[in-house]
Amino acid sequence: MELMEGLLTRRTIHLFRTDPVPDSVIEKMLEAAVQAPNHHMTQPWRFVVLQGESLSALAQARYRAAWQKAVDQQREFAERLASRARQDYLAVSAVIAVVQLLEGNASRQEEDYAAVSCAAYAMMLAAWNFGVGTHWATGGLTRSAEARELCQVTDQERLTAFIRLGYPQSVPQVPRVPAAQRTLWLS
Ligand SMILES: Cc1cc2nc3c(=O)[nH]c(=O)nc-3n(C[C@H](O)[C@H](O)[C@H](O)COP(=O)(O)O)c2cc1C
Repeated sequence: MELMEGLLTRRTIHLFRTDPVPDSVIEKMLEAAVQAPNHHMTQPWRFVVLQGESLSALAQARYRAAWQKAVDQQREFAERLASRARQDYLAVSAVIAVVQLLEGNASRQEEDYAAVSCAAYAMMLAAWNFGVGTHWATGGLTRSAEARELCQVTDQERLTAFIRLGYPQSVPQVPRVPAAQRTLWLS
């Protein structure tokens, strides 16, 4: 796939097929991620690939995180919400946890977070190149002690995102404000 075509057609995928994504594609995603730009070459990232039993454990952690969030709701509603949250993770081929190494002062960490975000986007675009869809998620699971333990995240690290991946069942349309409306050209 042409780079420009990938940039213009990639979408966040919500529904995934069940056929597994080969590890070779995940390796390509990770190769692309570490090529992301980063100030002072800090390379402030680490990745955890969760498949099989570890993915089931992550899905269970997401179930509990969703339960905690919905704790004030009616029990039946909370259960439905949490089960759906778990199913989101059981329905994918793999999840990649994106971890930021927390080093230096606040401004360094801000720049490093930008770099880690570039890495996450690079891996999503690489996946798209191979027909694989992704879903970037943050939310409660990134702060869950259970998920942090599973991904072996230390106090000097931040769990920034979970990238779910798999072959798309469907690709949604997500319209954008045209660039021309958000751009000031100065000469
Ligand atoms: C920093 C960041 C955090 C995100 N967190 C979530 C999330 O927690 N849950 C979710 O469903 N999507 C999340 N997304 C995905 C966006 O919702 C998605 O990119 C947006 O809807 C635009 O769709 P597109 O990726 O198809 O263009 C996140 C995206 C970014 C960049």
